[in-house]
Amino acid sequence: MKFFVDSANLEVIKNALELGLADGVTTNPTLIAKEGKDFKKIINDICKIVDGPVNVEVLSMDFEGIIKESRELVKWGSNIVIKIPMTRNGLRAVKKLNELKIKTNVTLIFNASQALLAARAGATYVCPFVGRLDDISHNGMDVIHDILHIFSNYDFECEVIAASIRNPLHVLEAARIGADIVTVPSNVIEQMILHPLTDIGIKKFNEDWKKVQNEK
Ligand code: G3P
Repeated sequence: MKFFVDSANLEVIKNALELGLADGVTTNPTLIAKEGKDFKKIINDICKIVDGPVNVEVLSMDFEGIIKESRELVKWGSNIVIKIPMTRNGLRAVKKLNELKIKTNVTLIFNASQALLAARAGATYVCPFVGRLDDISHNGMDVIHDILHIFSNYDFECEVIAASIRNPLHVLEAARIGADIVTVPSNVIEQMILHPLTDIGIKKFNEDWKKVQNEK
């Protein structure tokens, strides 16, 4: 399973790179706004350090606007993927961009029907939002499972990115059911690293080692 970093923060992305957990990056307008810097500079800086796909979201909602924005955004880096919200115009744009050999990621996917249409339009990736579905008492991971099943029925090349990841169990479950990619915020990686028994074990090893040193 590939790990993408769900952040526009350069330090967070650098930390993930050090752990081998930055196969790509996903951003969205909220994550970009959090950085409080120039949009283009943020993306240029990310593209300098990440070899994999850097997903950048368009803000236009009309077909011509999405295409115009996409043509501009792909100039910002050779690894840019255009992230497009799931709408009728978005799907039209995905089809057109596919013809132009521009990679796309259809975002804000909340059910398998939406994912199926996105794949048929030619999306490179779909981003079902697991956490936001869980928030409204729908099982987000069931949607991922359903999409994976449908895509495998037809050998669709479109990859499934489990997004809106809120905790380590989301990552584990995505891995269990075979999601192609999981895009993870930094706090979840930190939670995955830690285990109290690991800390207790390290403490005991150190104490035992010191005892022997003192006896010498
Ligand atoms: O990748 C999508 C993600 O950024 C949204 O996460 O936690 O705002 O639902 P969240």
